[in-house]
Amino acid sequence: MNNASIKALRPLAVAVAAAALAFAAQAGEVEVLHWWTSGGEAKAAVALKGTLQAKGHSWKDFAVAGGGGDSAMTVLKSRVVSGNAPAAAQIKGPSLQEWAQEGVLANMDELAKAEKWDESLPKVVSDIMKYQGHYIAAPVNVHRVNWLWVNPEALKKAGAKAPTTWDEFFVAADALKKAGIVPLAHGGQNWQDFTSFEAVALGLGGVDFYRKALVQLDPATLKSPTMEKVLSTFRRLKDYTDRNAPGRDWNLATAMVIKGEAGMQIMGDWAKGEFVAAGKTAGKDFLCLPAPGTAKSFTFNIDSFAFFKLKSEPNQKAQRDLASAIMSPDFQELFNLNKGSIPVRMGMKMDKFDDCARASAKDFADSAKSATLVPSIAHGMAVPSAAEGAIKDVVSQFWNSDKMSTAQAMDRLVAAAKQR
Ligand code: GAL
Repeated sequence: MNNASIKALRPLAVAVAAAALAFAAQAGEVEVLHWWTSGGEAKAAVALKGTLQAKGHSWKDFAVAGGGGDSAMTVLKSRVVSGNAPAAAQIKGPSLQEWAQEGVLANMDELAKAEKWDESLPKVVSDIMKYQGHYIAAPVNVHRVNWLWVNPEALKKAGAKAPTTWDEFFVAADALKKAGIVPLAHGGQNWQDFTSFEAVALGLGGVDFYRKALVQLDPATLKSPTMEKVLSTFRRLKDYTDRNAPGRDWNLATAMVIKGEAGMQIMGDWAKGEFVAAGKTAGKDFLCLPAPGTAKSFTFNIDSFAFFKLKSEPNQKAQRDLASAIMSPDFQELFNLNKGSIPVRMGMKMDKFDDCARASAKDFADSAKSATLVPSIAHGMAVPSAAEGAIKDVVSQFWNSDKMSTAQAMDRLVAAAKQR
């Protein structure tokens, strides 16, 4: 290369160097708290990490294992109290309001306005993401909770039919038991117990009962003949779980269905992430059915990230880039293909998604129209966290102790619902 061409290239080199410097100066770090550590969950978390890294920032993983996020929330509280909040944390539902009230969350309105979040999200979702009208969080997905996961091979061996009502469920469960297969894969942890409980409540009681009892916490509905029936049916499930259920993680319960050791599991569609991560195909290796009696309704659980106030400017930029990445259509597709959920952004193409996800997307839209869309209390969508915790404790105590009568359980539910 002669001197003239070197000279000609000089401005370009200067520009490239300046751009690199600016990039380095702006590159920040985001520390992200989440509890996505199972096979499918971790794959989804990697999608988020990769999207952020592609923008030149670094990702500091703050994963706290434990399905349902109870341990993650305990750790988050101590971090925030000691003045060391992460950039973003997986926080959902009414808890977002509770955190915002503490004055620790950042206002994301500027970005939300520039990117038209209001127009991209269903209003029922954007309302949850705002505190006093200002965005403080961004949603990644919609999980459906009222699913029954079925191993069709196991049902075939037992000569059983996939159940659509609770009566049919017990018929199938008896047949599986007879065939030496664990009918219901379960993990005895508060949130898993409650995931089954709310499915029974919705299936037997219907949408109005569910709303009155588990969203409005109406004492007369919490203590009613329908609740009595729900509790006793819920208790019957226990006979169809195995001896090792107490304390078992949800993904290990899903693995039992994947392997055919168990026939069915009641769980949200993060379970599908496990089937998919294990190379299984929907409709062939496993079936996703609405939990018995709940075909026309949809219990939703929306994962979202709340953004904490940060001091460093590059980190604030990285935080905004994370929020922007979360809301981008490409990310929403990639993430949800792995997570088992569906994109929360409206107008997304579903051609890469399987039948379970497509059914979920259709049922989400239909149930929103027919007002049969209900928030999951097991997954922090329905009531303030203190009441939720107390109600979950009662349901798990009832599950674990055969001595507690349904009448006692109902009195305790009424008392627990008053916790604030
Ligand atoms: C839920 C969460 C899901 C899923 C599940 C099990 O509460 O919303 O994303 O990961 O816990 O960990």
